[in-house]
Amino acid sequence: MLELSRFTRVVVFTGAGMSAESGVPTYRGRGGIWQQYDYREYACEDAFQRDPGKVLDFHELRRTHVLGCAPHAGHAHLAALQRGHPALSLITQNIDGLHQRAGSAVAAELHGSLWRLRCARHGVREDAAAGRFETRRCPQCGSMLRPDITWFGDLVDEAVFGRARALIDACDLFVSIGTSAVVWPAAGLIPFAHRPRPYLVEINPEETEGSERFDAVIRAPASALAQWVA
Ligand code: APR
Repeated sequence: MLELSRFTRVVVFTGAGMSAESGVPTYRGRGGIWQQYDYREYACEDAFQRDPGKVLDFHELRRTHVLGCAPHAGHAHLAALQRGHPALSLITQNIDGLHQRAGSAVAAELHGSLWRLRCARHGVREDAAAGRFETRRCPQCGSMLRPDITWFGDLVDEAVFGRARALIDACDLFVSIGTSAVVWPAAGLIPFAHRPRPYLVEINPEETEGSERFDAVIRAPASALAQWVA
């Protein structure tokens, strides 16, 4: 059992596998989103410039699907761990908001959120009500709003990544849950080469490219978190 009480500052870093058992598809595994949809058509700036309606329709489909999914026991356990260990910071690559729905405080959403839209001129607006967007146009200037999501080819939000790096630099335990760790720069946040190096744990039912660089690997699904981490 991984006892968090043995550590001072903990970072938990999650990917799409964290939400898989809630029914939210991963990106690269069997039935992955990028096997069903070509991101170049639905989830990148060029596609949005070409056909914003098609891109927004795709993201409304994802929002509607996610609203039909519920956080699982692993999300709930993580939220409980965070309440018991205030220095547990949660950094996620996920855009589905399931950690928040389970009651977790999320320190950094590295790739943005399905529940926000942004105007190039007037910034980000929350839009969390339902599957369909409240509005597709900026109320201030009327321009098409784009999902506040970091798509392939986008620059990352440096403020968000800076916050994540600072938390990771200060941690003495880093737990990666449900990520293939192949998408940079997020994958580069895993502190394999940090000095002093935190204790590194990977929780994933499958091997990943970086598995052998972790100090401990738990070959288990995210929903079973309570059996492995206390
Ligand atoms: N519990 C834990 N991990 C799981 C589970 C589960 N029940 N089911 C699958 N996994 C693991 C898979 O083994 C895989 O390693 O989750 C990982 C999912 O990998 P990806 O689909 O590549 O998702 P992720 O690592 O989050 O992708 C990173 O890529 O497309 C971009 O922006 C997108 O944030 C995403 C980024």
